[in-house]
Amino acid sequence: MSKLWGGRFSKDSDHLMEDFHSSIKFDQKLYREDIRGSIAHADMLGTVGVLSRAEADTLIEGLKAVQADIEEGKVAFTTEDEDIHMNIERLLTAKVGDVGKKLHTGRSRNDQVAVDLRMYVRSAVAETRQLLVDLVEVLHDLGAAHVETIMPGYTHLQRAQPVTFAHHLLAYIQMFRRDVVRLDDWQKNNNIMPLGSGALAGTTYPLDRNQTAQALDFDAPCANSMDGVSDRDFVLDYLYAASVSMMHLSRLSEEVILWASQEFAFIDLDDAYSTGSSIMPQKKNPDVAELIRGKAGRVSGHLMAMLMTMKGLPLAYNKDMQEDKEGLFDAIETWQKCLMMAAPMLKTLKVKKENMRAASEGGFTNATDLADYLVGKGVAFRDAHRIVGELVAHALDQGQALGDLSLADLQKASPQIEEDIYEAISVDTCVKRRHTKGAPGFPQVEEALDECKSWLTQQ
Ligand code: ARG
Repeated sequence: MSKLWGGRFSKDSDHLMEDFHSSIKFDQKLYREDIRGSIAHADMLGTVGVLSRAEADTLIEGLKAVQADIEEGKVAFTTEDEDIHMNIERLLTAKVGDVGKKLHTGRSRNDQVAVDLRMYVRSAVAETRQLLVDLVEVLHDLGAAHVETIMPGYTHLQRAQPVTFAHHLLAYIQMFRRDVVRLDDWQKNNNIMPLGSGALAGTTYPLDRNQTAQALDFDAPCANSMDGVSDRDFVLDYLYAASVSMMHLSRLSEEVILWASQEFAFIDLDDAYSTGSSIMPQKKNPDVAELIRGKAGRVSGHLMAMLMTMKGLPLAYNKDMQEDKEGLFDAIETWQKCLMMAAPMLKTLKVKKENMRAASEGGFTNATDLADYLVGKGVAFRDAHRIVGELVAHALDQGQALGDLSLADLQKASPQIEEDIYEAISVDTCVKRRHTKGAPGFPQVEEALDECKSWLTQQ
């Protein structure tokens, strides 16, 4: 089969070479965008008179027919035709005859692939955004059921101060909402149309770039033809958003794994989202969470790979840029699947409230509150810190919690301590007294959940 670009060549490509540089194996994913871009281009060529209206309409009908053939599985793409752009052009010409050869007037594969990929990422942004919103909704609903479920909050993975399960989940809600903002920023910064950039230096035809931009739902044509064909920031922006969000998913997964362990025993994962062991009959493993944690590395790997691909490229298009696709496609699919799995895993888990509460009572999470109590009785905080430290050491010796110590023992450490201490350092009081905005106090958490609910209704 002769190459569409074969005029200046006197011999065929080497077979291995053909396989090496051809991208059809992976860029066939772009067929819808490629056809949509070509329809807009052909229509515009008809409007400005570069093609007759009849020619433009024939191309448009032909392109629609090619799309139908692809979707009905009637088409076998070929590596000889290298990529999706030339495959579709060949299929079009086979369908509509010689007029098909006019489609590429005033266009290069360089601006063509740039517009295709941008539209592809733009759709991925919209889909991923919805999946993030769905996940926030699941976290919200789970949180709403656990406003008063007290659990230990940790620093250094050591029990620190009591919080609530709802408050803990609200922290993740903030992260995933920032991920949504990152996608909205993608849309603000990258919805720019490259067609008309040509190979790199624009074209000599009187193209109406505003018409194509509008037809393809872009905000504007790109301002510089060389940037138009060589900018892949829109890929990087998506990969960065994906990497950060996968990092969030991975942190949440890590906690789910810990919580599901017998050592924590804070939650029970649903059987539908767990697996067993081929040898150990007792096992129930948190595979979904482990896989999400594992896949986070691969997505940031794609971000790094793309940065490395771009960093040494002179303007304008270089074939290195064909390497933009596989990592991107994998990142889109991985991120979306992880979001789709995280949501039902969280929705179906069972919370073991009593264990969460017992853990928060057992680990001196009220020690800061005891120090604060002493401060309230006029003791300087640094002195209070030392007194409580000594009490903790004493309680550890006795195998007791602070609240189990007798009043006499407590008063030995500090005569300012009175009978009201037990109420003051119960974990319920510890949480209730944390009533600044954004803290785990029950009304504050209710308020945060309400705010989240109203955000959800605006999405
Ligand atoms: N398959 C190519 C890519 O994905 C399309 C652009 C090719 N342009 C070129 N001058 N060879 O980057």
